[in-house]
Amino acid sequence: MQNLFTFVFKTSMNCMKKESFVSVADLSKATIIQLMKKTESFEKNPNQQLLDGKICASLFFEPSTRTRLSFETAVNRLDGRIIGFSDAATTSSAKGETLKDTILMVSNYADLIIMRHYLEGAARYASEITNVPIINAGDGANQHPSQTLLDIYSIYKTQGTLENLEITIVGDLKYGRTVHSLINGMSHFNPIFHFISPEELRIPETYRNFCEENGIKYDESCDFSNDIINRSDIIYMTRVQRERFTDLMEYEKVKNVYILRNEMLKDSKDNLRILHPLPRVNEIAYDVDDNPKAYYIEQAKNGMFVRQAIICEVLGININETTA
Ligand code: CP
Repeated sequence: MQNLFTFVFKTSMNCMKKESFVSVADLSKATIIQLMKKTESFEKNPNQQLLDGKICASLFFEPSTRTRLSFETAVNRLDGRIIGFSDAATTSSAKGETLKDTILMVSNYADLIIMRHYLEGAARYASEITNVPIINAGDGANQHPSQTLLDIYSIYKTQGTLENLEITIVGDLKYGRTVHSLINGMSHFNPIFHFISPEELRIPETYRNFCEENGIKYDESCDFSNDIINRSDIIYMTRVQRERFTDLMEYEKVKNVYILRNEMLKDSKDNLRILHPLPRVNEIAYDVDDNPKAYYIEQAKNGMFVRQAIICEVLGININETTA
């Protein structure tokens, strides 16, 4: 069976490290599809004794509701044990301990480290200094790979395919790490991307270049028009990332630029689904929640199953054998 994390494994082999999962850009199309199948099997059968005796550390240096709780639920449902923190202010980081020393300490105790950090590249760095596998639960404005796998799973479940979809991504495309990972992850499936953002929050050049180099069709606009809405198979709304702004006056200018309201969906395609990595602030009006095209709550539930699959893959637990 091809390993999901081939790239990371290859880069780690020289120093005899286990596998880590730090970026979705490292995954091939085949491995993404394989992971979707494993996620499907966890959705059918989420309670399994696959992590018996394993201790998983959950280190959240930034706030989280879904990612932390769904990872921790995933571990609990697999009969593993969790240690960690959800507020770094209660740890020795507050006394000035470095990330390196924190990772080395936790590596003494745990079989796996799930980590969210405010610095871009923190998960990659952690994976280079320890033999304990690292799962990136979000690093600054860079990547959020487990979110992307749950987004892809949600797209597959709602569309019945991942191929040839028109995906409109709206909001903070500059700082939104879920957006960056989604572009990498969906790039294997011939999407058409419509990028909708204010000029200040335009998709970074790196990702525009990525699309161009890989022949991925995209357009950019500041206008979240009816035409775009009515062509879309997926609308992926995002929050303006207040915590990434150095000047809060700039945040105030753009924070409510796009608000999706139910009336805007009246001529949309039947198969359209609205996704959002959440939390939402103002981007989706509450009157959208009762529209059958709203999928963001189920999307977050899918995160638990996809994270079960990721944890097993990182730890080298072959679920095909154990669940057959
Ligand atoms: N989607 C997401 O990362 O949500 P949390 O910040 O609540 O984990």
